[in-house]
Amino acid sequence: LYARQPIMAGNWKMNPSTEADALNLANGFVALLHEMEDTCAMDEVEGCTEVVLFPPFPFISKVKDVVGKAGIAVGSQQVYYEDKGAFTGSVSASMVKSVGCEYVLCGHSERRTLFSDDDVNINAKVKKTLEFGMKPILCIGETKEEFDLGITKEVCAMQVSKDLAGVSKEDMKNVVIAYEPVWAIGTGLVCDPESANKVHQFIRTVLERMYDKEVAENIRIQYGGSVTPESVDGLMAMSDIDGCLVGGASLFADKFARIVNFKQ
Ligand code: G3P
Repeated sequence: LYARQPIMAGNWKMNPSTEADALNLANGFVALLHEMEDTCAMDEVEGCTEVVLFPPFPFISKVKDVVGKAGIAVGSQQVYYEDKGAFTGSVSASMVKSVGCEYVLCGHSERRTLFSDDDVNINAKVKKTLEFGMKPILCIGETKEEFDLGITKEVCAMQVSKDLAGVSKEDMKNVVIAYEPVWAIGTGLVCDPESANKVHQFIRTVLERMYDKEVAENIRIQYGGSVTPESVDGLMAMSDIDGCLVGGASLFADKFARIVNFKQ
C-alpha cells in the first residue's frame, strides 16, 4: 500500500518529570496498541508502521524494557559529536547505543535555537550516529520569518545539503528526514497536508541532485508540527509524507496510539 514503510515517532522532549510517569505513559501506550485490532506497530506483519519513542535520557533504558517487546524502538533526542572526554553534561552516541537506542534526533529546531546546534555540528552528529550503527532522524524546517519571506525551499535545501555533507549513498539508507516547519511546532498550527507534501517533494529533488533518484525515492520523510489524531489521516494520505514526528500529542497514550493507527 505504501512505497516506503511508514514511521511514526514520539518526541517526549523534556517530559514527563518522573520515571514513574514515563513508565506509566509507556505502559499505557503499549496496552492501547494491543487493544487496537488493526495496529501494525507490533511488528508482526511485514510492512507495518514502524514506531519509535524518544524519551528523555534518564528514562530510555526502562522505557525500552517496556516497549521493546511490543516491537517499538527507542531513540535519543540528541547526542554530542565526540566519543568521550571532558564534555560535562553531554551524552555520546556510544552511551545511547548501549542502552538500546536505534535512532537519534539530529538538528531538532529546539536544539538549533535553544542550544546553538548549527549545521556543522549537526552534520557531525549525523555522521557519529551512523558510525555507531544508529539511524539519524534529521530535523529541518523554516522559521516563521523565513516562511513569511517565502524562502522555505531555500532554507530546507541549505539544511539538507549542509547537514548531510559527506554522508554516503549507502548510509543514506539509514537516514530519515523530518520536515518540521518551526512555526508549526507546539503552536497548534499544523501545516496543511498539500503544502507539506510539496515541501517533501522538493526535499526529494534536492536529494536527487545530491545523490540519485534511488536515494530520493527511498528515503522516508516525516512531517512534524502540531500533529494530532484529527490531522494525521489527512497528512498520511499525501504521496510524499511517510510518517510523523509528534511532540505534544505523544505524551497522551490514547492520542499517540490513534496517530500510530492512522486511517489509510
Ligand atoms: O519533534 C516533534 C516536535 O517538534 C513537534 O512538536 O508538539 O508540535 O507535535 P508538537
